[in-house]
Amino acid sequence: MERWRETEWVSKMAIRLDYSNMMADFIGESGGITREEIDELIPRAAAVAGGIKARREAGEWGFFQLPYDTEMADEVLQLAGSFKGKYDDFIVLGIGGSALGGIALFRALCHPLHNLLPASDRGGLPRIFFMDNIDPATFGSVLDFINPERTLFNVITKSGSTAETISQFLIVQKMLTDRIGRESVKEHFVVTTGVKGGQLRGLAEKEGYPLLTVPENVGGRFSVLSPVGLFPAAMFGVDILELLAGARYMDKRCRTDELWQNPACLSGALHYLADVGKRLSIAVMMPYSGALLQVAYWFRQLWAESLGKAQTTAGETVNAGQTPVVALGATDQHSQLQLYLEGPFNKLVTFLLVENTSKTMAIPPQPGQRDFSYLGGHGLEELFNVEAQATQLALAKAGRSNMSLILPEINPFTLGQLLFLLEVQTVFTGGLYDINPMDQPAVESGKHYAYGMMGRSGFEDKAGEVKEWQSRKGRYTV
Ligand code: PA5
Repeated sequence: MERWRETEWVSKMAIRLDYSNMMADFIGESGGITREEIDELIPRAAAVAGGIKARREAGEWGFFQLPYDTEMADEVLQLAGSFKGKYDDFIVLGIGGSALGGIALFRALCHPLHNLLPASDRGGLPRIFFMDNIDPATFGSVLDFINPERTLFNVITKSGSTAETISQFLIVQKMLTDRIGRESVKEHFVVTTGVKGGQLRGLAEKEGYPLLTVPENVGGRFSVLSPVGLFPAAMFGVDILELLAGARYMDKRCRTDELWQNPACLSGALHYLADVGKRLSIAVMMPYSGALLQVAYWFRQLWAESLGKAQTTAGETVNAGQTPVVALGATDQHSQLQLYLEGPFNKLVTFLLVENTSKTMAIPPQPGQRDFSYLGGHGLEELFNVEAQATQLALAKAGRSNMSLILPEINPFTLGQLLFLLEVQTVFTGGLYDINPMDQPAVESGKHYAYGMMGRSGFEDKAGEVKEWQSRKGRYTV
């Protein structure tokens, strides 16, 4: 029996989708969607849901199975447990889907200043760094800063061949070998890679580096609930079983065939109708929560790489996909909101809201201070919440579509729900566009030019194309 089925707490922790401000009766006919439009989509939605169900049952889309994989969770917990108290720093080397989920979990579920806390206040947990870029100025500075002898590196690459991650790995491996000798290097690496993780898997096996496996049927950007996200999360002390329980809870809610009752599919349907029917080609995600900002960046990749496709599954050119944008409340009220309210009618804003914040702060009363007295005596969290509501209303009054995903509070259970909801929303919306949400064919072309320029064998023709382009490109430089 699921823990959550037994408690009232669970239903209090259910996240909610409020889509009132998407609807015509709230924001007017020109931008708003009608109940009839959603009803008309129901047969299509049912066909898409049927296709997803078939893929899920055939084991093609493995992210659906992750919340139920207790063996994987046990393996992750055991390995993370074996490192307890041994390291001052934990560094993830990975990029894209191999980093963004872990970053989202870290920022959402750890103390906002985790790395600045004294070790005793971190409960013995290491400082955490995600190195998801190869700018040597940043990467080099982090390596100069840490003590490699007290650092555990988690190399994450499903393909085992991503140039950025492999280069980082090679640099760190050499640094460790020089500092502590080849024999000891294995105590400083955990390699998370695919079953067919190319040469990296072979190398890790040969050198005796602990290995975690990314299931073959789990795509990079859908891998947050696999060892890709779970091992780092376990290293920074997150209750990963609760995270998976949250995902299972959301899975149950998203299995209903009733579109109107299904939060992920309904949100997907609204995004699709907004894009195709109302030309809202930009999907803004705007958390009113510093902790959820990185969830918005994680979603940005999920939405962009999954839905931005040239062709339908039948080969028809569609150039589908909304452009995902991240904004932060209340900060971006003072940066972006003017555009959202008066600029082109091309945006759908999704707010991420948190009902009970982990911290409250009273604004001191201001007796006799006429200008500031309206603030005094209120909570800072109240002002935050009021500003979120004011922004929603201002957008709605201007006929601008917006919806809210509301978390009762931030904890592993609600985070698990949120991430899983957004994953299901993405594949469902992909089905409505009739595109393949799991591939990323266009990303490869850039990679191939880079391989050519770096001299990788088999990519000589790409190197030639680059040379020819370089010889021309100065023409329009000033
Ligand atoms: O979603 C994806 O598939 C990509 O963003 C990958 O995660 C990214 O390219 C990194 O790939 P890999 O894990 O193979 O290094």
